[in-house]
Amino acid sequence: MSLEVVILAAGQGSRMRSSLPKVLHQLAGKPLLQHVIDSAQELSPAVIHVVIGHGADQVRSAFGEQPLSWVEQRQQLGTGHAVLQALPAIGEESTVLVLYGDVPLVSASSLQALVSAAADAPALLTANLEDPSGYGRVLRDADGAFMAVVEHKDASASERAVGEVNTGILAAPARLLQRYLPRVGNSNQQQEYYLPDVLSLAVADGVAVHTASAANPLQVMGVNDQLQLSQVERELQRLRAEALMRAGVRLADPARIDIRGSLQCGRDVYIDVNCVFTGDVVLGDGVTVGPNCFLRDTTIGDGSEICAMSHLQSASVGSACTVGPYARLRPGTCLGDEARVGNFVETKKATIGPGSKVNHLSYVGDCEMGAGVNIGAGTITCNYDGVNKHITRIGDGAFVGSNATLVAPVEIGADGFVAAGSTITRQVATAELAVGRGKQRNIQGWTRPGKTDKD
Ligand code: UD1
Ligand code: CA
Repeated sequence: MSLEVVILAAGQGSRMRSSLPKVLHQLAGKPLLQHVIDSAQELSPAVIHVVIGHGADQVRSAFGEQPLSWVEQRQQLGTGHAVLQALPAIGEESTVLVLYGDVPLVSASSLQALVSAAADAPALLTANLEDPSGYGRVLRDADGAFMAVVEHKDASASERAVGEVNTGILAAPARLLQRYLPRVGNSNQQQEYYLPDVLSLAVADGVAVHTASAANPLQVMGVNDQLQLSQVERELQRLRAEALMRAGVRLADPARIDIRGSLQCGRDVYIDVNCVFTGDVVLGDGVTVGPNCFLRDTTIGDGSEICAMSHLQSASVGSACTVGPYARLRPGTCLGDEARVGNFVETKKATIGPGSKVNHLSYVGDCEMGAGVNIGAGTITCNYDGVNKHITRIGDGAFVGSNATLVAPVEIGADGFVAAGSTITRQVATAELAVGRGKQRNIQGWTRPGKTDKD
């Protein structure tokens, strides 16, 4: 028996009040639909069909490279109608798992359990919610057997009092959907073809519908508006923070960390409040990240400290380094062990060798710097001539005085010395001193200008 997944993603999501199709809204740094696709992939299905309609081209191109089978639903006539569009492409012997593109947190393990229960009869994932408003309610008979789902808009007052809801997620043998879906009507409040109605049709035919209740109701929460999106985001971040702490990471406050990608941590890592990690970030043993830091696609070596308010992107930081506070490491920055980059320093495509220091107020771009170099405050590598970028090379042990401008392409040899305030345009050889500034003149007996009378 093979498994085929159908993900419903054709709706506009009008309650989001946005021009972006709902399933493209970002949750923890990736589109809602990507979360659902990723959970589906974990089950290794034969095919993942995605039903698209509203903003179809935009949705398709956002996932262009992935192995998905796209099904177009031209008019959004309801969830039942949406699954019906996918049916012709589904094998008769398959088990079908239906997922909603706007229910992003469901875990692969609860999906697996549902699929296993659906070999011969439909299985529905339900949840008990404190506030079930907006959801379809699950109606049961006196013995507790599943009877039907009634949508909130169609429900009576007593039905609305039911706390058990339809999560939207169900699994069923394909032939059962082939038998019952075409019979689903649309005589309801919204004049839509409701998917859960296949279940009541099956029950009427004597087919028992299996139900499973989701362990954590927040994980089956649907995203219909910005408020729910933020609630789902918080829930996901809470889960990630908990997983980090279980793995031994110390967080100043688990409610004030955002992980929008993967964060891998060694032992004895400490993360202060309000840090954001996106893309793939790796923190070595004993790393400390100060408050309000942003790290994207960055690796930090053992024992390094990233101080408050630093922004690092596509950077690689060695061991025992200090970065910040207020440092900006742009893509292609590579710090050797024990290097220091201090406050108000910007680096880009820069290799800063072991033990080198750029401690204050500098721009270091397109630069190859050796070991043990000292860069004084206010140093600028002038890497751009308005057309092309050029490289600055600085040898081991060189000393660049404060407020130097190094006009690339240029090279400072090993142990070279640049006097403060110099503009360097020619190569400085090994151990040479370069002074590239106007000579100081002191004028004696000079009188300051006096105030001139205004008319
Ligand atoms: C749906 C369920 C409801 C359940 C809730 C769980 C139905 C009729 N209702 O309600 O019982 O409690 O989800 O979150 O199934 N879609 C299409 N084509 C359409 C209509 C919808 O692809 O014609 C897609 C949407 O893009 C969305 C999903 O199906 O991803 C659910 O649609 P939505 O309108 O959000 O349904 P709810 O009112 O939330
Ligand atoms: Ca929904």
